[in-house]
Amino acid sequence: MLEVGRRRLKDAGVLDRCRLVQGHASDVADTDFDAAVNLLVAHFIKADERPAFYRAIHDRLKPGGCLLSAEISAALDAPEFPTMLENWKQVQRLMGASDESLAQLEGMLRTTLGVVSPADTEALWRGAGFPLAVPFFQTFIVQGWYALRPIEKDNSPELFSGGHSVHMSALSALKQTTVRR
Ligand SMILES: C[S@@+](CC[C@H](N)C(=O)[O-])C[C@H]1O[C@@H](n2cnc3c(N)ncnc32)[C@H](O)[C@@H]1O
Repeated sequence: MLEVGRRRLKDAGVLDRCRLVQGHASDVADTDFDAAVNLLVAHFIKADERPAFYRAIHDRLKPGGCLLSAEISAALDAPEFPTMLENWKQVQRLMGASDESLAQLEGMLRTTLGVVSPADTEALWRGAGFPLAVPFFQTFIVQGWYALRPIEKDNSPELFSGGHSVHMSALSALKQTTVRR
């Protein structure tokens, strides 16, 4: 995966600005990132390991830095979950999943992966130091949020509750650092 990333960064002409590290967030020494993007990773991490995972990201962002994450997140015991599961199976079927893997899908979500509900995810983010997780994306059972690490020296409630202009400028900074294919 690192080699794929290296190739894409090279094609985008920004490889000389990048340092690729293979490992976990906690293996990264720098603590001054403007943004962290976490796509389709968190649901692999068991709920009891999630606080440390989100905290490791939080601690490596600058104050005002932005975490953006999309992950499988669903309330597995909610009345709508069986229908959401059937819809997700249909998506997988259209992508060529076998009957055998479809039969295992629910068990994988319930036991193999560390799927937690949207409400619990937002609580985990708060516990890790992100006061406000803002939902921005959902496709079937994949949900996306972003949040800012508070600027601690400025105790303004607006920053802690996610003042609109602060969020918009963080997202715009993220856009500028995003490498497009
Ligand atoms: C579906 S891939 C997503 C990769 C990439 N973010 C993307 O969107 O193409 C899932 C990634 O999660 C990583 N992963 C799985 N379990 C993990 C864990 N316990 N801790 C950290 N990363 C994990 C895997 O190494 C893999 O790179």
